[in-house]
Amino acid sequence: MMLLILGTLLGIIFGPALFILVPYIRNYFAGAVCKSKAKLNGKVVLITGANTGIGKETARDLAKRGARVILACRDTAKGEVAACEIRAETGNQQVIMKKLDLADTKSIRQFAENFLAEEKELHILINNAGVMLYPYAKTADGFEMHLGVNHLGHFLLTFLLLERLKQSAPARIVNVSSLAHLVGRIRFHDLQGEKFYQRGLAYCQSKVANVHFTRELARRLQGTGVTVNALHPGTVQSELTRYSSVVSLLWKMFSFFLKTPQEGAQTSIYCAVAEELESVTGQYFSDCQPAYVSAHGRDDETAKKLWKVSCELLGIQWE
Ligand SMILES: NC(=O)c1ccc[n+]([C@@H]2O[C@H](COP(=O)([O-])OP(=O)(O)OC[C@H]3O[C@@H](n4cnc5c(N)ncnc54)[C@H](OP(=O)(O)O)[C@@H]3O)[C@@H](O)[C@H]2O)c1
Repeated sequence: MMLLILGTLLGIIFGPALFILVPYIRNYFAGAVCKSKAKLNGKVVLITGANTGIGKETARDLAKRGARVILACRDTAKGEVAACEIRAETGNQQVIMKKLDLADTKSIRQFAENFLAEEKELHILINNAGVMLYPYAKTADGFEMHLGVNHLGHFLLTFLLLERLKQSAPARIVNVSSLAHLVGRIRFHDLQGEKFYQRGLAYCQSKVANVHFTRELARRLQGTGVTVNALHPGTVQSELTRYSSVVSLLWKMFSFFLKTPQEGAQTSIYCAVAEELESVTGQYFSDCQPAYVSAHGRDDETAKKLWKVSCELLGIQWE
């Protein structure tokens, strides 16, 4: 009885306070907003995995700023719906969907060939697409799925489009990595997870690979006018959890504390347009500010070795 009275009293005292605090708590979890008002008229932007989630919201924002935006999507039906929606909302008719499957190097090469034939400039490349917690599977070229799509696919795409970025300088490359890079290790002795596979760790490996790629590419691009930065978007309600029903359920249960895709897109947008990042390169951001990179992620020897191995796996010469 006493407990009931105490509970009621606490509810009466703190209930209204909690009610008032809810928007502030939500605001806190929403994270930082990109404040730049930069316009992108005349600029060409390419975003991978833009049919949903963070990629779609990034595309929507950059289309509002006037850019010609190419949505590079695996699922062309979903991609066309997203492009139509963005064109209708922004009034920007320069929002175009193109087919790209990062799990197949033939598709990447075909995409790049068409892109280079059709687009004479490329100012912003956002390597956003990704898979997480994929049950063990290989890409068309025999790469473990996380490594193949999240790292090697974007590595090859960037290689094929780099000259166009250099010709269009100042230009930016934005690699969407993750906080998960903190536990990621590049397992050179078993890169494709054939001896041991744990899908969470495979995701983390691919995300620290994004950080290594960013840092090594930045070093190689010094003086070209092309910058490259990586980022963590925050924990975002998206379709990323689709391969795990447990994580999907947890994401739903705690959705109040997660970012919406629009909130999750802010750091990608920041890296793509912020005036103060004009010559900043090789850095890692979260919530629109520099963030901590793990010691493994900062290891230059690992980055160089991964670069060499990636070139060998893809059969390319990238000196
Ligand atoms: N959500 C988070 O909490 C979170 C946290 C840290 C980092 N990230 C990173 O943020 C990025 C975007 O993720 P998201 O949360 O927006 O997830 P999402 O909603 O699942 O979007 C992922 C996008 O990647 C595309 N994709 C997957 N495999 C592809 C392939 N083989 N070829 C081309 N596109 C492919 C998907 O296309 P389909 O629809 O056709 O599959 C989709 O458009 C990812 O790199 C992810 O690692 C997300």
